[in-house]
Amino acid sequence: MLRLLPANLTGAWGSPALRVREQGLMALSGGWLGPMAPPKCLLVPESHRFDCYPERRVVVTQELCESRGCCFIQSPPPAEGKQGVPWCFYPPDFPSYTLESLNQTALGMVGVLVRREKAYYPRDIQKLRLDVEFETDTRLHIKVTNPRYEVPLDVPQVMKRAENPIYSLNFSWDPFGVLLQRKATGTVLLNTTVAPLIFADQFLQISTSLPSKFLYGLGEHRDRFLHSLDWNTLTLWARDVPPTESFNLYGAHPFYLLMEEDGNAHGVFLLNSNAMEVVLQPAPGLTWRTIGGVLDFYIFLGPDPNMVIQQYQQVIGFPAMPPIWALGFHLCRWGYGSSNETWQTVRAMRNYQIPQDAQWNDIDYMDGYRDFTLDSQKFTSLPSLVEDLHKHGQHYVMILDPGISSTSPHGSYWPFDEGLRRGLFLNTTKGQPLIGQVWPGFTAFPDFSNPDTHQWWLENLQHFYSHVPFDGLWIDMNEPSNFMDGSEHGCPPGELDSPPYTPAVLGDSLSAKTVCASAEQKVSVHYNLHNLYGLMETKATASALVKIRGKRPFIISRSTFPSQGRYSGHWLGDNRSQWKDMYYSIPGVLSFSLFGIPLVGADICGFSGSTSEELCTRWTQLGAFYPFARNHNTQKEKAQDPTAFSPAARTAMKDVLLTRYSLLPFLYTLFHRAHLQGDTVARPLFFEFPGDVATWELDRQFLWGRSLLVTPVLEPGVDSVTGYVPRGMWYDFYTVRSITLSPDCSHPCRSLPAQGSSVNSSGELLKMSAPLEHLNLHIREGSILPTQKPGTTTEVTRGNPLRLIVALSSDATAWGDLFWDDGESLDTFEKGNYSYVMFNVTQVGWSPPLLLQGHSVTKEGGEDSVWLSCHARVLGKAFPSSLLSRLYPRMSPLSPQVLTVSDLGMSLSQGFSLQWL
Ligand code: NOJ
Repeated sequence: MLRLLPANLTGAWGSPALRVREQGLMALSGGWLGPMAPPKCLLVPESHRFDCYPERRVVVTQELCESRGCCFIQSPPPAEGKQGVPWCFYPPDFPSYTLESLNQTALGMVGVLVRREKAYYPRDIQKLRLDVEFETDTRLHIKVTNPRYEVPLDVPQVMKRAENPIYSLNFSWDPFGVLLQRKATGTVLLNTTVAPLIFADQFLQISTSLPSKFLYGLGEHRDRFLHSLDWNTLTLWARDVPPTESFNLYGAHPFYLLMEEDGNAHGVFLLNSNAMEVVLQPAPGLTWRTIGGVLDFYIFLGPDPNMVIQQYQQVIGFPAMPPIWALGFHLCRWGYGSSNETWQTVRAMRNYQIPQDAQWNDIDYMDGYRDFTLDSQKFTSLPSLVEDLHKHGQHYVMILDPGISSTSPHGSYWPFDEGLRRGLFLNTTKGQPLIGQVWPGFTAFPDFSNPDTHQWWLENLQHFYSHVPFDGLWIDMNEPSNFMDGSEHGCPPGELDSPPYTPAVLGDSLSAKTVCASAEQKVSVHYNLHNLYGLMETKATASALVKIRGKRPFIISRSTFPSQGRYSGHWLGDNRSQWKDMYYSIPGVLSFSLFGIPLVGADICGFSGSTSEELCTRWTQLGAFYPFARNHNTQKEKAQDPTAFSPAARTAMKDVLLTRYSLLPFLYTLFHRAHLQGDTVARPLFFEFPGDVATWELDRQFLWGRSLLVTPVLEPGVDSVTGYVPRGMWYDFYTVRSITLSPDCSHPCRSLPAQGSSVNSSGELLKMSAPLEHLNLHIREGSILPTQKPGTTTEVTRGNPLRLIVALSSDATAWGDLFWDDGESLDTFEKGNYSYVMFNVTQVGWSPPLLLQGHSVTKEGGEDSVWLSCHARVLGKAFPSSLLSRLYPRMSPLSPQVLTVSDLGMSLSQGFSLQWL
């Protein structure tokens, strides 16, 4: 074990002494540096100042700062709405923990950390246990604990120590610090000696240097996909609020992905459910600051970003395989006045033959907004509507909120009466149900940490299902949202509701628009469980749906926590009908790809405010490529479903939805890969091109899997869009050949070639033609996409013959795959009831022979019979005329670049082989 001298470690941030001195002088001449700052403080460059006084409601004075033993140097105030360099920061010698002992264990090491001098928060924990487990060659687990609350999440237990880890771990003993390096490159991934470790009862803080500024994740926030490290605090505390920059939003995901300068990637997960802040600063550095639990870190070494995300999901769990209808188009709104009005929309969609798989209802269907009730006046025909949907191969999804009305006369509302009788609600510190307010008025909140609550939830759902046989559930307001702060009586005094330190949560209070942190739950206090409320409700809902329907559950939840993807998808909440919101949906969707929740989308056309035809058309084009595609609208706004617009807009929306449906086999297979091994579905470009730094900032485009590039228009009044096309050959999805030239494209943007069948890009910005009816889609060379002729439901589409789009690479190879099953049964993969086909094209011998093969791994009970016929469309740079002149009868050249083979009459279960000689 290497013992590093503290000087070595602090040297990492203290070494450029000269530069520091210069900065100090500059600061002096700017009048911001007090004359009294001790030399050790002057040694700390601005970017490396770790905040010693993060309290926001206090104006930090020199006196207050020095009472904490910290350095005080004023810096110029930041621009409006920005944070700046902290004025009060840790000196290099601020007391921290000492590593007193370190012993080998079967899986790693166990150590003891001791703090001799108290820090400034109450109840410092003086002795801590350090556990290190070398879990796999690419995964390290470091935990700093003492016996106290830990997140009740099942994580895999490792039995064997990694044999050849690709990382090396060293410690600084005094002060204690962790130094983690990637062996292959020597890159320092973590160095926690940059600031002291603090571990008090309600204030835990650890800082680290970062090896680059390319950091992603840390949700749920509205931000660019690539976070700024310019003094940026991201707060994690589940909150109901329309997504706004810098606010803590609905879910909590303490996970980041970081791209190292050389294109390697790693990720860090802090398994902690308490209110927390993550501070990013330009050093580059990061501080985790949480107010409870333990410091339980998992570090994933990739080395590429895809692998990091897979490794993260090996810990939190792989996402559920959704039923296939979940991948169709969903239509919803708040404010359908009745079931008949809802039905009219469904009929209008059918009338125009616009694809739709699921019709949803918001709280309108309920009687007095109470869960598990039906408005018997306006929604009398709901059961018939659901029956009609089912007859048409469509599905019904309804909303449920956790708040249970507490004011119905006794005996008239079973959910509350019974919940009360069984003691299933969150209680106040006085042992009474905590009462807040949501849509139905006063409400109690079910305690989903109690298994008995799951049983009661199931019984409620069973009862409702016997009237309205719903197919999926939309669980909303589960932060949990409360229109009051805390409860009808506020919150009691005490350190749970008023902790010594409150992270930068919206409303400056833990109970802002939610329940009191002191509320009592079966497993712990709400203070610890708040961020888990949505996840726990989702688990109860998923298990109930399985028991009721016996099929794969479909759930969309607003509040989420790591491991959520195992049970549900997510939508990005109450966005607005604005172009900016449309853009932000892309970083939102991509972030949830990192969080292991691939089934994600935003409200298409925007939730609040009034959409326009142009915005809604563009948004439907983008939304058709959200993994979860739902149009949803608030009450009292005009209708924004596709049928509400002009024939031209309606047709554009219909066309792009049909394109989505044509890609159903491809999309479904991507979800299978997510379920199987944690691949992303909507994928950032840099996942495929990690060596191309130009892709690292891109969040106006994304990929489906590895091979379909989506470049939406995100602004009004334009008929072209500039997008990045990474290196390699790309085929236009629709025409294969013709991509419109935009003559006025200036440097650095280049126009697409007028006549080429493909773009052979070295990685550059290209201007693409994008009239209102057109969404730019490009297929990457070397890929085979399984598609089908689209129908207006996934059920109809599923019955159509398979069509392969084979996009040859420049060396005439390609591959792709297909997972297929009955689309709704539980655990088809686990039980072997599926078909899986690998397609590939290879060049046999010298040019031109090509061999297209399908290797089938179809299990007993696999679903392949529908595809006795298969078409293949092979896209290539240019096929030799010798090949085109000897065509197999059913093979026709569309152009020198396209070969189409139709009606192959083959069953996929057999596998096949097709050769061009
Ligand atoms: C808030 C949800 O975010 C929104 O989608 C829904 O329409 C309203 N609650 C009403 O239920």
